[in-house]
Amino acid sequence: MSDISILGIFVADISFSGDKIPSSGETILGDSYNIGPGGKGCNQAIAISRLGGKVSFISKLGNDNYGKLAINSLKKNNIDISNIIVSNKHKTGVAGIHVDRNTGKNAITVIRGAPESFTIKEIKTNIIKNSKIFLTQLEIPLDVTLHCLKKTKEEGLINILNPAPACNLSKDFFKVIDYFTPNETEAEFYTGIKINNEKDAKESAKKLIKMGIKNVIITLGEKGLFYSNGKEEIYMKANRVKAVDTTGAGDAFNGGFSFALLKGKKIKDCLKFANKIAGLSTTKLGAGDSMPTLKELDKSKKVRHY
Ligand code: RIB
Repeated sequence: MSDISILGIFVADISFSGDKIPSSGETILGDSYNIGPGGKGCNQAIAISRLGGKVSFISKLGNDNYGKLAINSLKKNNIDISNIIVSNKHKTGVAGIHVDRNTGKNAITVIRGAPESFTIKEIKTNIIKNSKIFLTQLEIPLDVTLHCLKKTKEEGLINILNPAPACNLSKDFFKVIDYFTPNETEAEFYTGIKINNEKDAKESAKKLIKMGIKNVIITLGEKGLFYSNGKEEIYMKANRVKAVDTTGAGDAFNGGFSFALLKGKKIKDCLKFANKIAGLSTTKLGAGDSMPTLKELDKSKKVRHY
């Protein structure tokens, strides 16, 4: 039995770090690269497991070298892989990531591979039933994602939808979501409201609550986050860190938040904890590989971030 089940993709992230993100038609010489676990679901699973949560990852891989990389990384991180389908017909996905080492900002192209062929029939709902929290994103086909979200509500679980990458969702989605965690760009996609300040974030959250979502958390990058459940509102600044690579920071946030929620912490403490995990994840190159361990978290308490 797992505390948290995660539906999502694994892809091999191939990250290139350099002085800038190349423009269209431009070739630049970079300075380092990393090949490691990626895909929002996989990164979130690693984040939770490294903090001590029991995680089951529901996904689909190809029977190839990157599929082996996935299994090794997930096993190494103590993640339950018994609900991963290995397909002989499809390839494991990859993502090409350019990172600007000066700002930590990135540009990503994801080729999902095997999970693109995921069907509702392939989902064993007893995995979901046996956990306390269900966390997912929008990298799995939408009908499968909605089916699982509905099941979580029938079974009385808490669910969290990290609506990334942003895409058109039917009204049915908004009725079954407990926690909706877009970043500022994704929030703009769902509400049409451009977020420049706290007031805009408040407006955007209000609109999302009106759509039927119970709790909205809009992450605002280095500006922090805004939370609302329609009654309580919290604005929180981000932790100041020297960011090397922001890839996966949203995943670290969602993982940290789910873990704190599992531990029964109050919403403000869950947000504070998630903020800290997200900040720490930006201090290393890579996505899944940059998720902080408990040891790193403890060490960071003694270090003053800047
Ligand atoms: O959130 C970051 C992740 O998005 C990367 O690991 C990449 O693979 C994409 O799925």
